[in-house]
Amino acid sequence: MFLFNKKDQVVVKIVENKKEREDAMDVRKQVFQKDMGIDPESDFDGKDDRADHIIAYVNGKEAGTLRIRYDDDGELGKVAEFERIAVLRKFRGQNIAKQMIEYMFGYLKSNGTRGVVFKAQEHTKGFYEQLGFVQQGNAFADGGVLHVRMFKVLY
Ligand SMILES: CC(C)(COP(=O)(O)OP(=O)(O)OC[C@H]1O[C@@H](n2cnc3c(N)ncnc32)[C@H](O)[C@@H]1OP(=O)(O)O)[C@@H](O)C(=O)NCCC(=O)NCCS
Repeated sequence: MFLFNKKDQVVVKIVENKKEREDAMDVRKQVFQKDMGIDPESDFDGKDDRADHIIAYVNGKEAGTLRIRYDDDGELGKVAEFERIAVLRKFRGQNIAKQMIEYMFGYLKSNGTRGVVFKAQEHTKGFYEQLGFVQQGNAFADGGVLHVRMFKVLY
């Protein structure tokens, strides 16, 4: 595992160019397709072009990513869903996922998004509650794993 020290530089940003996008997709290939054995067609489902992506770098090396998709405006206004959150194994447990989610809140507020949803594995609910999400509805099974829908109002 990679242990951060004071000199390590963590950059979390919205994907803005081809290189950053390739880096984000490389993280997904490694985490979802290679480590977890998910079918590439299921991961790269054709929805990436219409989504926003966040990328995290540690000392210039890609470390994590997440995808944001926008739902049609509901009662609240513009709402987003984030998904495909992944951090390379060696960088895990050091708040990269948390930093990406916190950065995402600011980014979504700046583009006028009122709320954000996430389909979380039930056992990780506490992590999302600490970030201000609340559970919506009952837990449900997806792929044999219990999930809950988590929602956060941004403003
Ligand atoms: C989930 C994941 C992105 C967390 O990244 P990370 O940078 O290690 O996370 P942080 O250091 O910010 O926080 C660690 C916390 O992540 C939590 N976590 C958040 N989302 C999680 C999720 N969907 N699944 C498992 N753990 C998750 C854990 O509960 C852990 O909490 P703990 O420290 O109390 O045990 C990373 O473990 C990963 O890439 N896993 C494989 C891909 C995956 O399962 N993605 C989620 C499904 S879409």
